[in-house]
Amino acid sequence: MQPRSPGARVEPARRPETRRRRGLRRRLPRPALAAAASVLAAAALLLPASSPAQQGPYPIFTEAHLDATMTTLGPNVAGVRAALADGDYSTAKERAIRSREQLATTITFWRDRDRDDAVGWLRTALNRLDALDTVLSAESVDAAAAGAIGADITEACNACHAVYREDDGDGGFRMRTSALP
Ligand code: HEC
Repeated sequence: MQPRSPGARVEPARRPETRRRRGLRRRLPRPALAAAASVLAAAALLLPASSPAQQGPYPIFTEAHLDATMTTLGPNVAGVRAALADGDYSTAKERAIRSREQLATTITFWRDRDRDDAVGWLRTALNRLDALDTVLSAESVDAAAAGAIGADITEACNACHAVYREDDGDGGFRMRTSALP
């Protein structure tokens, strides 16, 4: 063991440095990182398919993109209905707007494949999400009207699912490719 010399009292000198380090760590921009992650996720949706031969002038919205979007849309729309049931209209509105944004991106998939029926159901679902936003933006929210629109939204989702979605045999869903051209 080293004998303690008077000059060995380094503790007080270290403390400010430790504090500075902690300060730095605290300043790490967590929200910025989260924002970057969601920008990346959004960018991934817009990335063209990997095969150059498939690349047209516009980014291609693949089946995988559709699956990914639907997978996040599901809980969001379920959240809208749960918030409506709770009378938490600001959360319901926030989630309805988010759901609308997500669902709207999928229109490219159906347009590229000339699926007018799918585009129709999609537009109906978007219009109903807009209608819900309007009802929820009123100063005094009409709970019955909001609940009815919530059910109408799900009906539009299901109309498309009935034709273009099937069980994947593993507890999930997949595209019903036989319904595509
Ligand atoms: C125009 C057609 C269309 C509309 C409208 C539509 N979907 Fe889908 N959805 C699909 C298709 C096709 C699939 C199957 C794709 C897959 O999961 O790979 C799907 C899959 C899903 C899945 C399963 C995802 C998974 O694989 O686990 C959920 C959840 C879902 N949709 C929610 C919704 C909700 C909620 C709405 C309405 C707000 C909606 N969808 C509207 C076509 C549509």
